[in-house]
Amino acid sequence: MSSSVLILLVVGGAVLLALLAFTTVRRRDVRGAGALSRETVKRDRDADLDLPTGPTGREVERAAHESARGSAPAIATVAPPALWVPPDREEIGVSRRQFLNRASVTLMSAGLGGFAAASFVAFLWPTAAPVFGGKVNVGKLDDILSTIDTSGGFFYSSSARSWVTRYPSDAIPKAKGVSEYKDLIGGMESGIIAQYQKCPHLGCRVPECKSSQWFECPCHGSQYNRVGEKKAGPAPRGMDHFVVTVGSSGDVVIDTSRVITGAAIGTNTTGQEAEGPHCITGGGGSH
Ligand code: FES
Repeated sequence: MSSSVLILLVVGGAVLLALLAFTTVRRRDVRGAGALSRETVKRDRDADLDLPTGPTGREVERAAHESARGSAPAIATVAPPALWVPPDREEIGVSRRQFLNRASVTLMSAGLGGFAAASFVAFLWPTAAPVFGGKVNVGKLDDILSTIDTSGGFFYSSSARSWVTRYPSDAIPKAKGVSEYKDLIGGMESGIIAQYQKCPHLGCRVPECKSSQWFECPCHGSQYNRVGEKKAGPAPRGMDHFVVTVGSSGDVVIDTSRVITGAAIGTNTTGQEAEGPHCITGGGGSH
């Protein structure tokens, strides 16, 4: 999974957490804004209401009788107040609180669903740009050879964490006798070899030295010739390699999923000596 997808997933998760926190706070606010608890509503509904009542039938009759005899004024009838009946929720539709709650839940569900779908697609989608640990296409062979020739003998691929250098064709017969080179012969026959940038001593990144045309480690001074064979310093072997293949289209692919252990000390298939001053001096001498 590429770093951009990871960043996308982290940002998506952060947005969802923020949405969840907002929803929780919002629901708490809505509940606290003058809303009656469920128990209070039920108690009110079940309580006997102490409402004033109108005159009884007997009193009305007596009043009519007295009125007919002209001895007393008629009793004014008082209509009893209508009992409050809670409105039917189905009839009044969705309240504001219900609307907010449902909208929050819907938004959160949609967000979680989108996040899950994006994660699923990102997991299954083939990575557009292969990264270290897999097969890395580092470009066309002609372009790489051209870069090597115009930039001092070395081609560097950060995505493959590798140096690519020319491998001389007249050294191939010797290379075929080196057991560590068994899987590298195909690349050598295409004219190149790939060195893992990690020093086999203690893991420092080994830079090229354009003056000597070797690789020279700045940490403890190990030195390797242009194809990674150990020349000096405390390293226990030559630089490690990766298998290189050149497709019919000319694309050079470095397989970084498998590190090929460097050749043993003393291996020297090219016979290349230092071609100028060293970049690192005092690095422990020859071994
Ligand atoms: S890490 Fe390179 S020489 Fe020690």
